[in-house]
Amino acid sequence: MSSTQRPAAEILVAADHAEHVRLGAELLARAITAAIDERGVARVALSGGSTPDESYRYLKDLALPFDRVEWYWVDERGVPPDHPRSNYGAANKDLELAAGQHGRAFRMEGERDLSAAAADYDALLRRTFGVAAAVAFDAMVMGVGDDGHTASLFPGIGAVRIDDRLVAHIPEQPEKKLEARITLTAPVILEARLIVVLVRGAGKKPVVVAARASGSEDEVPSRIFQRAKGRVIWLLDRDAAG
Ligand code: 6PG
Repeated sequence: MSSTQRPAAEILVAADHAEHVRLGAELLARAITAAIDERGVARVALSGGSTPDESYRYLKDLALPFDRVEWYWVDERGVPPDHPRSNYGAANKDLELAAGQHGRAFRMEGERDLSAAAADYDALLRRTFGVAAAVAFDAMVMGVGDDGHTASLFPGIGAVRIDDRLVAHIPEQPEKKLEARITLTAPVILEARLIVVLVRGAGKKPVVVAARASGSEDEVPSRIFQRAKGRVIWLLDRDAAG
């Protein structure tokens, strides 16, 4: 394979909801175990949204060396951690992180000035991984929105082109009804060793097709997965697969 070729994305179609939940958790568990075996630590970045929550709960009950797991976030909304819309808050509940038995959590601080919080998270990643070029998460859980967004890289605002930062503040876009966010940028997402894209429901079928077709990334930001350096697994249910 030449250096410009990317591994082809894999598509897994779960037979039903329960299998989708289980496979999502098992893919993460395998990546966590492999990372700990190879490097002594597993660094996983989590998305919000409604699709991953049951897989997070399933994962929490698996026998894994959680003391070697570090959780990070793919994106966060501009809300405090106890807010119902907080991505950290949701994962914290599902993975029961508060007691410290299921790994260490490094959240994005959505309650602060989001530019400053994004810059601090960027600095945290550089400190943790060493140099910016090596910010390679062992696994990243991603979702896609009906409009083609992934993480908080929304269409039509150039967010997908941000390449001078690891973490960005996406300002509120009232005309598009978008709240302010913090997000990992494409350069970090593309370095992940494994990206698991969790998608369920017939409503997402068109966006799954669009994300895998060629065309503008600004129009369909989830097209960036086509440039991922690591393994990309689309885990779909039958409705999303069509
Ligand atoms: C968020 C996300 C976002 C999400 C998609 C899919 O904070 O909302 O991280 O990118 O993954 O919108 O969301 P669903 O899982 O709810 O479809």
